[in-house]
Amino acid sequence: MAENIFSDIGACAFDAYGTLFDVHSAVNACRDDIGDDADRLSELWRQKQLQYTWLRSLMKQHEDFWQVTGDALDYAMGATGTTDMALRARLMELYLRLDAYPDVVETLERLKAAKMKTAILSNGSMTMLIAAAKSAGIFSLLDMILSVDQVGVFKPDPAVYQLAVDKLKLPASQISFQSANGWDAHCGAAFGFQVAWINRFGQPAENLPGTPRVELKNLAALPKLLGL
Ligand code: LAC
Repeated sequence: MAENIFSDIGACAFDAYGTLFDVHSAVNACRDDIGDDADRLSELWRQKQLQYTWLRSLMKQHEDFWQVTGDALDYAMGATGTTDMALRARLMELYLRLDAYPDVVETLERLKAAKMKTAILSNGSMTMLIAAAKSAGIFSLLDMILSVDQVGVFKPDPAVYQLAVDKLKLPASQISFQSANGWDAHCGAAFGFQVAWINRFGQPAENLPGTPRVELKNLAALPKLLGL
């Protein structure tokens, strides 16, 4: 793969859930209690969580990501016939300390060693993001945590991507954006970021406006692509 795929980058912004944090690690930690439906529950939880963010944004009925995550979990538990409220509480609590993917710490360390500015740009509420970043040991490796809390709408509303431009004080073209969510990668590219689609799950390409510059399996190759 070509090096220096990204040019003139002043900051790297990362999607959080699915990109830095493994959203399935919460259910994985309770797998014995959930049984055979564990994978289905986790997939449904994530799918509904994303759907509810899009629907709420279209409805102009914003609630923070904690509420949406709980609503989505209730749906997934209902769909899988799970009624254990102690399990619900445990899963929500685990969402505050999701595992980071194995490549995350090292990549952020390399970026910081090269004096690159780093930020999270996420649908997550600030409370959730700070908790997860601290728990995963990456809080000190981030210059900024940018939450949609500040704009009251979820991705892919351009107002969210604009938050990175405003807070990082850089034009979109000088920000590299990394997301494992194909839709988020396309929408960030359509906004004007230089985008790496971190296709951790081997998903097929999306047919949406915007073209990610590069598709990677994980974050490890990012510093090289930045010429660092
Ligand atoms: C986020 C979701 C989209 O962190 O994964 O914004």
